[in-house]
Amino acid sequence: MDMNDHIEKILFTEQQISERVFELGSQITRDFKACTVPPVIVGVATGALLFLADLVRKIHLPVTVDFVRVESYGSGTVSNGQPTISSKLKVDVRGCHVILVEDIVDTGSTLSCLIDYLKTKGVSSISVCTLLDKPARRKVHFKLVGKGKYYCGFECPDDFVVGYGLDYGEVYRNLPYVGVLKPEIYER
Ligand code: PRP
Ligand code: MN
Ligand code: MG
Repeated sequence: MDMNDHIEKILFTEQQISERVFELGSQITRDFKACTVPPVIVGVATGALLFLADLVRKIHLPVTVDFVRVESYGSGTVSNGQPTISSKLKVDVRGCHVILVEDIVDTGSTLSCLIDYLKTKGVSSISVCTLLDKPARRKVHFKLVGKGKYYCGFECPDDFVVGYGLDYGEVYRNLPYVGVLKPEIYER
């Protein structure tokens, strides 16, 4: 019952992730320190959980943290391409600089849906900070808002990756690294 035995190879180690998170947090601190209002960090549940928790501790500004939840899969395992927001923001983001935090950008449809939602809230800018980006899979090209910036931890190959928030069937999120799942796990 060792999760590590389900992993074919490690793509990004705990150490590599930690170093990159430190760099991203430092960059965000520099980019937003002159703003009159500190940014609102919006995590996309559930995948962004670990990345957000580590990232906010490397941002040295009095940020606000909130979560949204997007359902892009119906009962099946294939995306229906029409994400819906199932858990909305608690904080008022009018006039705020929002940084959307994701574990991975794949087709782009989740972020595109969230950006449309945030725009209706009258935000000043929308940035995105994702741990991983899989450009090979992009279908929807989302546009940042205002002076929003795009922060990315690592470009990810088009493999079945899990860990550090990323799941397969809601499992493996608690692995401290990002790895490729053995095909025998998802093919059975
Ligand atoms: C995953 C991932 C991103 C999204 C990326 O979330 O965490 O949020 O898919 O895919 P996209 O760019 O094609 O929209 P998922 O819907 O699996 O929910 P989860 O975070 O709860 O695992
Ligand atoms: Mn997600
Ligand atoms: Mg998922």
